[in-house]
Amino acid sequence: MTVSHMNLQVLGADDVVARFRALRARQPVKYFAFYSSQLGGIVTDPALMVLPFDDHMVHRGHGIFDTAGVVGGKIYDLEAHLDRFLLSAERSRLRISPSRSEMRDIIINTTAISGTRHGSIRYWLSSGPGSLELTPAASAEPGFFVMVFGGLTYPERWLTEGARVMTTTYPIKAPIYAITKATNYLPNVLMQMEAKQAGFDNGVFIDAEGHVGESSNMNVAFVTRDGVLAHPKFDSILAGCTSLRLLELAEGLKDQGLLTAIEVRDVPVAEARASREMMLLGSSVKVASIVQWDDQRIGDGKPGPVAQALLRLLDEDMRSSDRLIDVPY
Ligand SMILES: Cc1ncc(COP(=O)(O)O)c(C=O)c1O
Repeated sequence: MTVSHMNLQVLGADDVVARFRALRARQPVKYFAFYSSQLGGIVTDPALMVLPFDDHMVHRGHGIFDTAGVVGGKIYDLEAHLDRFLLSAERSRLRISPSRSEMRDIIINTTAISGTRHGSIRYWLSSGPGSLELTPAASAEPGFFVMVFGGLTYPERWLTEGARVMTTTYPIKAPIYAITKATNYLPNVLMQMEAKQAGFDNGVFIDAEGHVGESSNMNVAFVTRDGVLAHPKFDSILAGCTSLRLLELAEGLKDQGLLTAIEVRDVPVAEARASREMMLLGSSVKVASIVQWDDQRIGDGKPGPVAQALLRLLDEDMRSSDRLIDVPY
């Protein structure tokens, strides 16, 4: 076999930085600030927002993450996101370093340096570099990373007309993986790609018993024929911070006659398909009505009153609740 000569160069540190800069010039991104415990500081040049390739989060998916929103210069519901982050760390057998309060301070300070007043903060805990084995190297130091970025966006149409979802052909994650927000998002990625390719906005996982699970990076909830807000149980799907908060805020909709009850329970597909309203809930999407599921229209095919009321309640909570942290810009 003849091998053609490729003229690959051996690069020095300056070449590497220059090439990462060129990559970011070809592919501009809105990443405003990045903290890395491995660097011991913050960088604002996206070309420098990098990790060692042998960090187990990179090559084995042994890491966890979470995302909180920045609204009007304040961080929303960070404590709930940190609770889930620490639970995910424990379930993933990740050593937690730094402490919760240090992580909180790093998150707040990275946000301040980013200058971002509307966007998202995603943070990760990795098992660290040092080997290409399966178990982390004995010397591996866990990594903590914080990225402040523009946030995920969805078409305006999702709000005005409602979103359309399909039942994914990919199997739902086993409960222990679904309740852990680890960096293993392959099923979630494939589900969304599949849905988009088929002309839908997103997918929905159904479990082996025929109960509704969740969507790619969002929960789903329903308003049944009897006016019950029904949400799938959180023992085999991710406990969405948005869902948990909305289940509390929705109590007020009972007094307004929009809901008769609020139930967290198994939601059989047949009941869900016959619902008056179906919606997507999550930190990035907030509340979006689903008006079509596979070839079936949901409700009257228009965004429903409960979804609209929940969105108003959430927006209000994000503007003025005790769940906001001021960022010291
Ligand atoms: C799989 C999955 N389900 C649900 C959610 C919704 O969670 P949250 O409301 O905390 O954004 C997310 C997003 O984090 C997710 O990734």
